[in-house]
Amino acid sequence: MRTLIDIASKPSRRVVGLMTGTSADGVDAVLVDIEGFGPTTELELLAQKTYPLPDELRADLFLLFQPEARVDDLCRVNVALGAVLADAALAVIDESGVESSSVDLIGSHGQTVRHLPQGSPPSTLQIGEAAMIAHHTGIATIADFRPADMAAGGEGAPLVPLADLLLFAHEDQGRLMLNIGGIANVTALPAGADSSSGILAFDLGPGNALIDAAVDHLSGGRERYDAGGRRAAGGEANEEWVERLMKHDFFRRPPPKSTGREEFGTEFLAQLMIESGLEGADLLSTLTLFTARSIAAGILRFADPEGNLGEVWVSGGGVHNNHLMAMLEDELAPRQVRSLDDLGVPADAKEAVAFAVLANETLMGRAGNVMAATGAGAGAVLGKISMPSV
Ligand SMILES: Nc1ncnc2c1ncn2[C@@H]1O[C@H](COP(=O)(O)OP(=O)(O)O)[C@@H](O)[C@H]1O
Ligand SMILES: [Mg+2]
Repeated sequence: MRTLIDIASKPSRRVVGLMTGTSADGVDAVLVDIEGFGPTTELELLAQKTYPLPDELRADLFLLFQPEARVDDLCRVNVALGAVLADAALAVIDESGVESSSVDLIGSHGQTVRHLPQGSPPSTLQIGEAAMIAHHTGIATIADFRPADMAAGGEGAPLVPLADLLLFAHEDQGRLMLNIGGIANVTALPAGADSSSGILAFDLGPGNALIDAAVDHLSGGRERYDAGGRRAAGGEANEEWVERLMKHDFFRRPPPKSTGREEFGTEFLAQLMIESGLEGADLLSTLTLFTARSIAAGILRFADPEGNLGEVWVSGGGVHNNHLMAMLEDELAPRQVRSLDDLGVPADAKEAVAFAVLANETLMGRAGNVMAATGAGAGAVLGKISMPSV
């Protein structure tokens, strides 16, 4: 069997990255070749695939998101998801045409079922059993990245900033790396950023989470998202309610900060619907404007108050919502808002790529957190390792 020392001794490594975000829509999988580590990291994307979650498993995950979730379900779904993550890894390897025996490492984020950074003590829980992934793929797997940062006093999120720095920092151009998943987050990369000390990153608030929840409700569960933003485009946003929602405490809190479904999920939506009476396309339009405005507010207030960062590179599923993107362009002008696709990394693949990079950093004994982003008091080597069966 290949030992971790064997893998770490190679000049370049072939790594799978697996991400299942708060939307629980599917497993984003990538296969990359990574040369070097830390500041010398060079990455080549070999394949990318989104592997939809089986309906039954998705329903199980949504059970776990409920406050009254049962530990038996947690236990069972952790293993079931591990098997699906293994399939997703094998599928993306198959897609690339390389032999799975040539793949060195898997970095798997897992599915967040709780994220309680303000709890006492702060805690977070990502599931998707890594032992299942390692056994079924035959590939060493690093998973469960967030607790190490929390143990070091951080929020455990966001963790993508180090990968943003290593992959996207530009010599003379300041960049905002914006990811719109269920939750939206940003990494601010000043021109010439070359170490994690100079960068700021934090969660901005809702990404697609509220829009998805509203579409699910309005379509009686038949649709999961507002395809292309077309429903929202057919309604009218209620400015007054957008401004009221903008008074939420989260937007005032300075970074470091992170959030999740607990703050911007179905309960938030239910309360808004009761209080505002908004329905249908107008509700969606209002939620979409609120999402765009809260993203922009976080950027203008905290990430780029001086307007030095002229490029906004958007990743995550939100990039496919044209109505949301148009509103963002409006709110962030004169900055240029563009899909990460145009920078050579598919917008849907960034977070999966990031966890491949973070697994590579962990293998090499390097901190994967950006202390300014998570608030940790120390650099944390992230994740836990599961080895394949012999
Ligand atoms: N064609 C589309 N039109 C509008 N929204 C889309 C489209 N495709 C994906 N999305 C949105 O992107 C979300 C998934 O984004 P993703 O980056 O995977 O989020 P997460 O990391 O939370 O899983 C979907 O839930 C949906 O809201
Ligand atoms: Mg997703």
